[in-house]
Amino acid sequence: MAFLIAAGARADLFAAEVRARDGGLDLRIAPALGRLGDVDYALVWNPPHGLLRTLPNLKLIISVGAGVDGILSDPELPDLPIVRYVDADLTSRMVQYVVLNVLFHHRRMSEFRELQAQRRWEYLPEAAADQVRVGIMGLGVLGVAAARVLGVLGYRLSGWSRERKSIDGVASFAGAGELDAFLAATDILAVLLPLTAETRGIINRRLLSALSRQSRSAELPGPVLINAGRGGLQVDADILAALTSGALYAASLDVFETEPLPQASPLWSQPRLVITPHNAAESAPAAIARYALEQVERHRRGLPLPNLVDRRRGY
Ligand code: NDP
Ligand code: OXD
Repeated sequence: MAFLIAAGARADLFAAEVRARDGGLDLRIAPALGRLGDVDYALVWNPPHGLLRTLPNLKLIISVGAGVDGILSDPELPDLPIVRYVDADLTSRMVQYVVLNVLFHHRRMSEFRELQAQRRWEYLPEAAADQVRVGIMGLGVLGVAAARVLGVLGYRLSGWSRERKSIDGVASFAGAGELDAFLAATDILAVLLPLTAETRGIINRRLLSALSRQSRSAELPGPVLINAGRGGLQVDADILAALTSGALYAASLDVFETEPLPQASPLWSQPRLVITPHNAAESAPAAIARYALEQVERHRRGLPLPNLVDRRRGY
């Protein structure tokens, strides 16, 4: 049995952690595959299209990421089970990112940073948390975890998903038919959706203009966008236009249509935009190695696999 790691720049880090846990494992690191027929399991992040198809005895695909769009986009993807990454450390990191950025914009930190640069000691009014409506697009593992912590801080919460949810303290909106009502009830929009055929480009000019108009007040100057889902969910140019026109008060983007964000992108110089390099929630090598080996062990023992991807839904 061989275990393939095809996970780009961090493959060696993952391999070192796997080796530390199972020194006897026949480990292959792409592109050095060895005999293709030996490989039973693969741990992957955006694998080159066609690679997995070349492994005749592959049994299970394990995703380094919670999002699997980089795997499902392979037109030659073999019909095998795929498990995505779900882990307490990853969830905690994403909750930190969402809470950090909700607080940052609610407490008008971009403006305070601007005032500081001008050495100005100025008071800005700020809304009470229970006057700020945070809407979470994507109420899955990460969205629900973020909602729980935001709820403790006192925010008014709603969420949008495909299926209706029943979560204490979170108003549930479901499906395309309820999207506009959800947006109209949102001051700060946090996007934690997967990238699928249905969600591609969903954060566009139309969505941004449907965001709450009532959020304009002395305390909260306008709607805020936070996207840590995938860059393919958004139209960068529409976000830029909304920031420059004031339709959006501020934003935090961890993901972009093109990554790394090109040097020439005008987004870099937006004063009320917080940019991070797709690291809202990193898959830590030690946790990934533990998770992947657990999944392999479960598969070998014929146990049910948690976190299986539904290929029809696309996540
Ligand atoms: P889950 O699969 O647990 O949740 C996805 C949520 O999105 C579900 O609530 C689902 O609805 C909802 N959804 C999917 N499609 C639609 C649709 N068409 N309309 C409405 N709602 C929809 O995923 P996770 O919470 O684990 O992760 C979410 C995403 O976060 C990942 O796919 C990945 O892209 C991104 N991510 C980004 C990271 C980063 O560092 N930037 C790190 C980790 C993840 P329902 O519940 O009804 O099925
Ligand atoms: C993920 C990511 O999907 O890091 O886990 O983007």
